[in-house]
Amino acid sequence: MTTPTPLIAGNWKMNGTGPALSEARAIAAGAPTAGVRVALCPAATLVERMATALAGAPVEIGGQDCHSQASGAFTGDVSAEMLREAGATLVILGHSERRAGHGETDEQVAAKVEAALQAGLEPIICVGETRAEREAGRALAVVTDQVRASLPGSLTGKAFTVAYEPVWAIGTGLTPSLDDITEVHQAIRATLVEMFGPAGAAPAILYGGSVKPNNAAEILALPEVGGALVGGASLKASEFLAIVAGTPGV
Ligand code: 13P
Repeated sequence: MTTPTPLIAGNWKMNGTGPALSEARAIAAGAPTAGVRVALCPAATLVERMATALAGAPVEIGGQDCHSQASGAFTGDVSAEMLREAGATLVILGHSERRAGHGETDEQVAAKVEAALQAGLEPIICVGETRAEREAGRALAVVTDQVRASLPGSLTGKAFTVAYEPVWAIGTGLTPSLDDITEVHQAIRATLVEMFGPAGAAPAILYGGSVKPNNAAEILALPEVGGALVGGASLKASEFLAIVAGTPGV
């Protein structure tokens, strides 16, 4: 069974205008060329400029969301094909800030995954429990239910990534214990194998939520942790590159 190449992806969220491209350039200049995949997911307005600025560098570009339809009367939305044309090869889908702030359901996330695949984008599909769900002892059930309902069968044989991002760990400086991260990642892996058979061993499972230079190496060394989805710390090249450097084998 081949181990997936780790992926360290930066989610810039609604941050960054033109001047922030200097950080992206610094990340590109310091990104390793082997052993790890490095990606940046800027706001839609920066995707094309970042893809141009980083052309040829070992950094993949991703969107942060896309619509489930290829085109149409959907004011304010961006299609997967538009992201692809702008230079993205990845797209984050089902982030908790979309699920909570825009009422996205698992079914809608699954439809967006289909759209991403149609356009040739590799989806990074996010799942994660709230604090109340963890305190109620339901974290594993919530996360594995989200995986089952947000990942369509058409992912079979396709490149994709799952990101476990506990809602309560995002932007708070809090992280689950290392044992808790391992437990959830192993449950996600078991669910992927249940859904996709032996091919379910292939996708990397990322951890996200307050990943910083000081905790990245210990998290990235955990079983079934195949990389990280990084928010705040991805906005600064020095911090993001320090996290990348914490990837085992890099
Ligand atoms: P922070 O790293 O800022 O906690 O954000 C995590 C996240 O939501 C990445 O998608």
